[in-house]
Amino acid sequence: MDNSINIFPTTERERLFEQLNEKLETAYQFNRKLVSFQANKNEPVYRWFKYKEGFSSSLVKYFLKKFAPKPGRVLDPFAGAGTTLFAGQELGWESHGIELLPVGAFVMKVREAVLRVDFEKLKGTINKLWSDIGQMGSYDEHLRHIPITKDAFPDETENYLNKYLTICSNLKDKDIQTLLRFAAFAVLEEISYTRKDGQYLRWDYRSNRKLLSKPFDKGKILTFREAVSNKLQQMLTDLSPHKPLTLFDQVESNGHSQHPVNIIEGSCLEELPRLKDESFDFIVTSPPYCNRYDYTRTYALELVYLGYDNQAVRDLRQTMLSCTVENKEKIGYLQKLYASLGEEKAFGNILDVYDGSPAMTEVNEVLNELNRQGKLNNANISRLVKNYFLEMCFVIREMARVLKSGGRCVMVNDNVRYGGEEIPVDLILSEFAENFGFTIEKIFVLPKGKGNSSQQMGNYGRTEIRKCIYLWLKQ
Ligand SMILES: C[S@@+](CC[C@H](N)C(=O)[O-])C[C@H]1O[C@@H](n2cnc3c(N)ncnc32)[C@H](O)[C@@H]1O
Repeated sequence: MDNSINIFPTTERERLFEQLNEKLETAYQFNRKLVSFQANKNEPVYRWFKYKEGFSSSLVKYFLKKFAPKPGRVLDPFAGAGTTLFAGQELGWESHGIELLPVGAFVMKVREAVLRVDFEKLKGTINKLWSDIGQMGSYDEHLRHIPITKDAFPDETENYLNKYLTICSNLKDKDIQTLLRFAAFAVLEEISYTRKDGQYLRWDYRSNRKLLSKPFDKGKILTFREAVSNKLQQMLTDLSPHKPLTLFDQVESNGHSQHPVNIIEGSCLEELPRLKDESFDFIVTSPPYCNRYDYTRTYALELVYLGYDNQAVRDLRQTMLSCTVENKEKIGYLQKLYASLGEEKAFGNILDVYDGSPAMTEVNEVLNELNRQGKLNNANISRLVKNYFLEMCFVIREMARVLKSGGRCVMVNDNVRYGGEEIPVDLILSEFAENFGFTIEKIFVLPKGKGNSSQQMGNYGRTEIRKCIYLWLKQ
């Protein structure tokens, strides 16, 4: 790697910064906890399985209550575990979501099963579970590992897991089946030799794998029976009719009736263009960040558990919004999709908005140059950044189209830095949004600690990477 210092142009990013500077506001009312899953941790279902990619339901409720006088239709095109959808539902909104990763869709299915399940029957099934497993000789169901999950569990755990899956598949009551399957799903990481680590799984030194990266010591690894018993006990405690849940209280809905949540399993790049014009009042969402995080590797155990084979995981990785160095470009696919919908003009318009952003062009040129000089630690980073923004340009156009005039979009996202170059995701996406008919009301910048004042934000390029909540109004 060449370590000589280069000064790359920042003119266009600075110009965009000056243009949107007055919209940036350090938001002391939001702490980091509020925009992360941690604030959900005492809520049932969320506390059963921590979907760490999520934001908090308090954040969603804050914006819905503050900016919408009465409930309407809310959308989250990157629904995750459904935080927006269920928070909206509690407040009487009609909630619609799109999510590609089956992990989120499964968690949302569990939330529905929870509302219907017969508690006493569930308790009865759980009470005889371990004796049923004890009596079982062989199993019919078993995990079908893929290369990146092979040897993830101690043998005894895997054996138990397979017997447990067999019991689950024989259960007649579908809601009980979903909840029991979920209990083991929720502890997969805990009972394995792995730990989620963003770009891949990290492996404990006790696993049988030949490890390329440095192994770590995970500490005590619970047995299958310990972990699943604890999880089932936690679920029973929360579901007990003698201990009502805030989740199911109607208190927050202020007398509005609750609507069922509508979840579309698929890619929002494909599903958003199919939604009607001006059919939503609010969007609260958080796309993947442009940070190389690979959901399909991080959630590999869960995907295998849900029946994904190697090819299905690879296909899923390529269908996700580009945010890893492995993602290939989707522009050919998008062109065909828009043509099939008779939307060639819209397609051309989206490309014009993308190509018409001087800050975007500057970022792409700088990253290409850094790449040529071997200064990026992966040669595909420039492709990742280019396609991340291109795909987000499509998403933003569609979000603007499906929102009613006067509707708002709230988006949580982080800026990133590659090869020392700051990429102002907040500013570039907001510039796209303006082109599609949004007014940028605010870009709330989360306070990081002492010294992150607005003045310092004015010092371009010397700032910490901003973590933001954008508030856009559809004209
Ligand atoms: C930051 S997370 C959103 C979490 C969500 N706000 C919650 O509270 O659970 C981004 C989500 O986008 C999903 N995703 C990535 N690419 C997608 C696509 N093309 N279409 C729909 N969802 C996608 C990921 O699976 C992930 O769940």
